Amino acid sequence: MRKPLVAGNWKMNGSSAGNKLLLNEILAAANSFPSVDVALFPPAVYLHQVQQALKDSNVAWGTQNVSSYHQGAYTGEISATMLHDFDCKYVLIGHSERRCLYAELELDQLVLDRIIAEKYNMAISEGLIPIICIGESPEEHAVGKTEEVIGRHLDILIEHQGVKSLSQAVLAYEPVWAIGTGRSATPEWAQDVHSFMRERVAKYDVETAQGLRILYGGSVKGNNAAPLFSKPDVDGGLIGGASLDANEFVKICQSAQKQVLG
Ligand code: PGA
Repeated sequence: MRKPLVAGNWKMNGSSAGNKLLLNEILAAANSFPSVDVALFPPAVYLHQVQQALKDSNVAWGTQNVSSYHQGAYTGEISATMLHDFDCKYVLIGHSERRCLYAELELDQLVLDRIIAEKYNMAISEGLIPIICIGESPEEHAVGKTEEVIGRHLDILIEHQGVKSLSQAVLAYEPVWAIGTGRSATPEWAQDVHSFMRERVAKYDVETAQGLRILYGGSVKGNNAAPLFSKPDVDGGLIGGASLDANEFVKICQSAQKQVLG
C-alpha cells in the first residue's frame, strides 16, 4: 500500500506569531497521524521558523517553488541547494498559481513545460522530492479536455526526464476550477482522473505507476477529505486554505490515518 501524504500549502499567508500557534497546534496532534507523511509549505521567509519547530517531529516541510538554476543573477529566486540549509524534504513545482504568473509573462506553453521540467530535474538531482501539480483550467474542464491536458503534461515530463524519475516524485492532480473555490471535485471524479494518470504512467512502466503517490488538491476540507481519500488511487491531498486552520488540517491528516488503518 502507498503511504498517504498530506501536504499543506500555506501560499502567501502567515506571520511569525500566527505560524507559531499553527505549528504548535499541529505538533500537539501529530501522534494522531503516525502512519501518514505530512509536510508543510510555508513562504520561504519562514523556513527557519518551521525548521526549528518541526525538526524533532514526524512532520516534514518544503517550499512552494524552486529555481531551475544553481546560483547567480536571478533576483528573487531561491535555489535547490539553499533549501538544504533548511533541511527541506519536498518542493512544489508547477502549482497553477505559479503557472499563471509565468503565463502573464506570455511565455508560450513549450517554454513553460521546459521550465517545469528543468525545475523537476533540479529538485531530483538535489535529492528533494518534487510534488508536480497538474490540472485542467475551468475552460478546459468545460469542454471535456481534462484527460488531454493531463496526458500531455505527463507525457512531456516522462519524455524529458524518464519514467523512472517518477519513483522519486509525487504527482498532484489539482483542477484549477476547484482551487480556492470551495467546489471540490467529487471523489468519483478524482478517482477517475487519478486512475487515468496512473494508467498513463503504467504505459511507460508498471512498477513506477503502482508505487507513485497521486495527491488530490482543490478545496479539500475536514469534512470532505475522508471520502476523497477512500478512493483507491487518491493517495492523500494537497491542501491550501484548510492548511491554515489547525483543526481543519489535523482533521484532514486524521482522515488519511483512518484510511491506512482501514
Ligand atoms: P485550496 O488550494 O485547498 O485552498 O483549494 C489547494 C492548492 O492550491 O494547492
